Amino acid sequence: MDDRAPAENGAYPIEVRGLTMKYGPLVVMEDLNFQVHRGEIFVIMGGSGSGKSTLLKHLIGLKAPAEGSILFEGEDFLEADETTRKGILRRMGVLYQNGALWSGLTLAENVALPLEEYTELDPRSIGEMVSLKLSLVGLRGFEAFYPAEISGGMRKRAALARATALDPEVLFFDEPSSGLDPITASRLDDLILQLRDSFGTTIVVVSHDLASIFKIADRALFLDIEEKTMTAIGTPEDLRENPPTDEVRRFMTRSSEVGPSEGSDVSPESKGPKQRSDP
Ligand SMILES: Nc1ncnc2c1ncn2[C@@H]1O[C@H](COP(=O)(O)OP(=O)(O)O)[C@@H](O)[C@H]1O
Ligand SMILES: [Mg+2]
Repeated sequence: MDDRAPAENGAYPIEVRGLTMKYGPLVVMEDLNFQVHRGEIFVIMGGSGSGKSTLLKHLIGLKAPAEGSILFEGEDFLEADETTRKGILRRMGVLYQNGALWSGLTLAENVALPLEEYTELDPRSIGEMVSLKLSLVGLRGFEAFYPAEISGGMRKRAALARATALDPEVLFFDEPSSGLDPITASRLDDLILQLRDSFGTTIVVVSHDLASIFKIADRALFLDIEEKTMTAIGTPEDLRENPPTDEVRRFMTRSSEVGPSEGSDVSPESKGPKQRSDP
């Protein structure tokens, strides 16, 4: 079977049909139906525990549907043979919530890993590719640094360099801005937009950060934890202006009630009655 054919015959990068997700007896979400379009930034949103990360795991083939199916460029990952599956995985890049760089490896070694594993490139070409990928995320010159020696925002960008090492057609992010201050988070959003604009990469982002959702999303999907299914899909602006449910309206208008300078949970000066774990 030739590996690139489905892209031309009208298939979507990702199509989800009648998906039910479960952990044992626990039903997380039922009857999800949507398509991710080529070259768009598609955001999966919803409250904590609604199943966003679980959905991402399904989309990248790490978890099997309890019911329904997921097609990648028209091909069902689960039905595919081993070779096709590997081919599909190679065309995806993933950035996990915690960044997950190997702490014992330098940034260059981290970015080189997928290239060593999946390509036949010689060490010198790998070195050049690694430097290119690091410079694309603003980390030129940091090849020899270890993850612990750089900031959280830089670690995210290094993880992004690694996720893009194989020039993926689809990139997945789980909560890219979590743990970052608003300015660093916004720079990461710029980088995500730039990736899509420069390379036409299709990007799927899990997020509950409204500022980020309005900045980057072409379309967004809302997972309603009470209804146990998706209750909205559309542009963020449209979902805010015409929310199909009260829950969607609440979700989409949260931060405008707080004001544009929210995000105080990262401020050390924050004086609210927040719990503190230590002196
Ligand atoms: N490995 C797991 N085993 C059992 N239940 C899980 C597991 N991972 C997540 N869950 C449960 O599934 C639900 C959705 O979790 P998750 O996808 O992490 O939500 P979100 O990313 O939206 O915060 C939650 O009720 C969570 O407790
Ligand atoms: Mg999550």
